[in-house]
Amino acid sequence: MKIINVAGARPNFMKIAPLMEAFEATDGIEPFLVHTGQHYDKKLSELFFTQLGIPEPDVNLGVGSASHAVQTAEIMKAFEPVLLTHEPSAVLVVGDVNSTIACGLAAVKLGIKLVHVEAGLRSFDRRMPEEINRLLTDAISDLLFCTEKSGVANLRNEGIGEEKIFLVGNVMIDTLLKNKARSDKSTVLADLALEAGKYAALTLHRPSNVDDPDVFARILDALEVIQHDMPIVFPIHPRTRKNLHAGDLAAKVKHMSGLRLIDPLGYLDFLKLMSSAAVVLTDSGGIQEETTILKVPCITLRENTERPITVEVGSNTVVGVDTARIISGYQEVMEGGGRQAGTPPLWDGKAAERIAKILCEKI
Ligand code: UD1
Repeated sequence: MKIINVAGARPNFMKIAPLMEAFEATDGIEPFLVHTGQHYDKKLSELFFTQLGIPEPDVNLGVGSASHAVQTAEIMKAFEPVLLTHEPSAVLVVGDVNSTIACGLAAVKLGIKLVHVEAGLRSFDRRMPEEINRLLTDAISDLLFCTEKSGVANLRNEGIGEEKIFLVGNVMIDTLLKNKARSDKSTVLADLALEAGKYAALTLHRPSNVDDPDVFARILDALEVIQHDMPIVFPIHPRTRKNLHAGDLAAKVKHMSGLRLIDPLGYLDFLKLMSSAAVVLTDSGGIQEETTILKVPCITLRENTERPITVEVGSNTVVGVDTARIISGYQEVMEGGGRQAGTPPLWDGKAAERIAKILCEKI
């Protein structure tokens, strides 16, 4: 059976890599890869294909950046002819980006089965574009693969049939475990003159944090205090860089000698940067999961998380975006050494294999 796998934005690539590998090794599955082109910068896209050994996409839709409506519509328009030409048995989408819902919707409208990997996660915050993408994709999927038990519970509560839901573990963690030894050899610490355990790593790109200058300023005020205590390394997302320079926030940052803005890193260097950090500050979803496995304290700069297992058994603390709360969260982590992290069930590097097996039985 031919399965069209969709990847569009940076966090999709580390999820699609182990799936393509598992499908290629499975008799009876013929994987086909579509890149929507939602992310197109070398550092957000191509670097991940090379480092993670993801095959060259069979088709690149080359859609690029635009408003949500335009981007989603353009992906649907470009994806439909691919479906009509290749007539797959199923389309598989991962995560919660615009490419996920756009390709999912195009597939089901043609009567093609839809598979969602990383289903059921809910922040219960409908102001997040990703939450809308998750809710809609899950509502139209035929097979839903969950990373954690909260996902299964959420899908049941939404009335999704039990026979469609599978708890299989986390494909992003498959990639982490496979590449950890390679990333240990990265020279990123030496390149940036950093000492292991003596710096913080930061990522920030959520629209709710960086599109609103007041919120962004509150976060920067907390970083101003923290950077006096230890250097903060900040690989900066294009959206964040743009917003920093659009307002008067760039001046604020200029005076912080301990806050080091660098270009986005490739997968292996970023994994090394995270795993050797004293603490990670982030508003990303995936990084909350990766730090859980790396057992590095994570401070999440959001009011909620759709990944509660990372708080329950992991090293994640959700502190919100209030200046004082970020600083006290940081101080608690530094004084107490962070929360002790356990390993969530099935985050063992074999999620993609489980998915391949279930697809062979169900499609
Ligand atoms: C998208 C996802 C988000 C994910 C993030 C990871 C949605 C709704 N959001 O957000 O869930 O966490 O990717 O990075 O799908 N840009 C570039 N080069 C690129 C891509 C984007 O410069 O290769 C710039 C453009 O100015 C663009 C902006 O970044 O307008 C935002 O890109 P977009 O894909 O719309 O959303 P992200 O913020 O990256």
